[in-house]
Amino acid sequence: MTLDLAAKVALLTGATMFTLAPQEQIGLHEIRLSDGPTGVRGLKFSGGRVVALFPNATLLASAWDADAAYEVGRILAEEALSQEIHVVLGPTINLHRSPLGGRLFEAYSEDPLLTGKLAAAYVRGMQDQGVAACLKHLIANESETDRNTVNSVVDEATLREVYLLPFEIAVEEADAWTMMAAYNDVNGAAATEQHHVNNEIVKGEWGYHGLIMSDWFATRTAAAAANGGLDLVMPGPGGPWGDALVEAVKNGEVDESVIDDHVNRLLLLADRVGALGEEPREFPGGLPAPDSDVRKEQLTRLAASGMTVLRNENAALPLARGTRVALIGRHAVQTIDMGGGSAQVNPPYQASVADGLTALLDDVTVTDGVEVRTRPVPARGGFLTDPVTGKPGIRVQLLDADGTELEDRFCPQSSTMVGMDDDFAGVVASAVLRGRVSAGGPVELGVLGAGRWLVEAGEESLRYRLDLTGNGFGEAVLAPPLRVDRFVAAEGDILTARVELPSDGTFANKGLFGLLGHVAPRSTVDVLDDAVRAASGADVAVVVVGLTEEQETESVDKTTLALPGAQDALVEAVAGAARRTVVVVNAATPVLMPWRDRVDAVLWAGLPGQEGGHAVAAALLGDIEPAGRLVSTFPAADGGSPAWSVTPVDGRLPYDEGPFIGYRGHYAGRAPEPVFWFGHGLGYASWDYSDARLTGSDQPEVMVTVTNTGTRASREVVQVYLRPDDAAQPIRLAGWTAVKVKPGESARVTVHTDSRMWRVWNTTSGEWERASGGQLLIARGLGDIRATL
Ligand code: BGC
Repeated sequence: MTLDLAAKVALLTGATMFTLAPQEQIGLHEIRLSDGPTGVRGLKFSGGRVVALFPNATLLASAWDADAAYEVGRILAEEALSQEIHVVLGPTINLHRSPLGGRLFEAYSEDPLLTGKLAAAYVRGMQDQGVAACLKHLIANESETDRNTVNSVVDEATLREVYLLPFEIAVEEADAWTMMAAYNDVNGAAATEQHHVNNEIVKGEWGYHGLIMSDWFATRTAAAAANGGLDLVMPGPGGPWGDALVEAVKNGEVDESVIDDHVNRLLLLADRVGALGEEPREFPGGLPAPDSDVRKEQLTRLAASGMTVLRNENAALPLARGTRVALIGRHAVQTIDMGGGSAQVNPPYQASVADGLTALLDDVTVTDGVEVRTRPVPARGGFLTDPVTGKPGIRVQLLDADGTELEDRFCPQSSTMVGMDDDFAGVVASAVLRGRVSAGGPVELGVLGAGRWLVEAGEESLRYRLDLTGNGFGEAVLAPPLRVDRFVAAEGDILTARVELPSDGTFANKGLFGLLGHVAPRSTVDVLDDAVRAASGADVAVVVVGLTEEQETESVDKTTLALPGAQDALVEAVAGAARRTVVVVNAATPVLMPWRDRVDAVLWAGLPGQEGGHAVAAALLGDIEPAGRLVSTFPAADGGSPAWSVTPVDGRLPYDEGPFIGYRGHYAGRAPEPVFWFGHGLGYASWDYSDARLTGSDQPEVMVTVTNTGTRASREVVQVYLRPDDAAQPIRLAGWTAVKVKPGESARVTVHTDSRMWRVWNTTSGEWERASGGQLLIARGLGDIRATL
């Protein structure tokens, strides 16, 4: 059976938001895709199935443990299989270039070797179960500002030695079945049209047989993208290929063999995931539910093992079991377990640190902290309830242009996606959102989403219009306009908001809509007073601070690394009053800690997933050792990184620091001494290093004896860095090995250095060369170098 040109081209655009069309004549079945990377969300963009929420990528990476990454890939595959999903859109393997990048929480690290090795393990874990992984986003997509139009300008050597390296490793070591081309341009050509990267390097030099799909709505052209190595346009239906691509083949702009190559790659993917043949794949039943004990154990262990002890004076941690703890902070009661954007999932529950610590300790007082958000979020914690069922959440009625009801839905997240995940045939012209207010007194109420609004609560009503600023998919879907106003509510009042959706533009009749609401904030002075009182009455104050999905999100970058709100003042106030102060940082990426010398301990906890609070508690008490090592360097101040600005100038974002990102640039003196180096992490032991030796000349290996001089069994990550003699070449991680050692005992550890770290790209000859000589440093992060060979 052969397909004609139009039928072939039809396969190369998605059928829906997250599916690919079947083609019965050739035995091709529907292929179903889902985000990734830290939970398999399913076919709906939001409000979909309840699925397991994993620790975020930086927290997983902080374990420096390929076996754990493999396990995560395997469990994610199970989550996919139980929803009949064939492709998971992850891992994200862009690098932490500037710490301002909003989406770094989704990506592993600032280091290409660590990122590539963990990605390869994750991909193997997933694909060994017959579920495809997707490496994203190819390439030079390290920040979000103007992501649809920015031109990342990167020299060829840096592109290959740094940004392409994780993709190369994951292709070589795990043969990832798909990749995703990014939104941005690279050196003047769209990532979806990057002949040089997609065709010459990835499919040519690396011999990649997998499929390259576009990021969602990223494809701009027919001929240029098809010729530029893009195999599949996502999502669909619609988009720039279809008839235009058929026409481009007919008029000779695109050779039909190019179309055939794209189709072959699609069919290979289908074959690999069991979607090609007489019968569609049978999916296994009986896999662990997202809230099963199996998942609880896995997710707690994976989260806690990556948590990182940044400071620990006088063995303040782990906490003894009888300790009286004052637990303080907004993040203690509303722990942030995931970042914002397409990585968000709908988890069965999210355990807060308050839940976790009160479950393990008898004497814990819990005190809410200062406000941490400037942008209100959809109502949570039962502040609004569905007037029909009484459940936490809201009721949304969707109407067509005639006012006929298309659907009446309950939205537990107090928000809903319109026009993208809908199963009905009509077009939504307006919606009515309703929630019952569960608290009386001064409250802030409002709405989320573009359109003309009529908002009514109690006796009051307001009319206004919210417009999109034209920032594309990211804005309409991930960060739509919103407004809140102060009301004095009576308990039981119903907040009703009617909206007429915009009916023109790309995101006509589409977007995220919701109701916002919370008790009006208390004054900071009152909150600090309460915190100080609580802290002075306990043995230890544990303050949980952090970022929220306002800072750690797809589609928006940060502007500062400072903690939002008056959280620094809260820590200072507590540290001044408490006998001992332990700070838990609930954020995926570096934050500034001006108080760090005045507190006893700092535990970095990442965005720990649905078991987050239990994992933090286990780490604080030492039930699971927080044996993490940082995956990014923590600068001392805003601006204190080798690459800082993420704002394009005249559309260009030059990667001027070249290969000197993160620790590489700090070490070369291109940025001030950081507060905590990449690779830093104390665990709960101390270590002696002795008898370091170098073996193997072509592919050097390092042997060293590590002795646990602490009082607890612990896991050490022995890191080896190559410092080339040529100062134009940055220092780089060349390998690592982790080992578990009992107190008082030693282990002889071998670290292989990766051959790819000994290469240098010669731009003139267009070939790899071997790096000049250099030294190997054995270090616990570059702030603590133990031997030089
Ligand atoms: C993101 C991708 C994601 C896609 C589908 C885009 O906004 O950049 O990473 O896979 O949406 O949700």
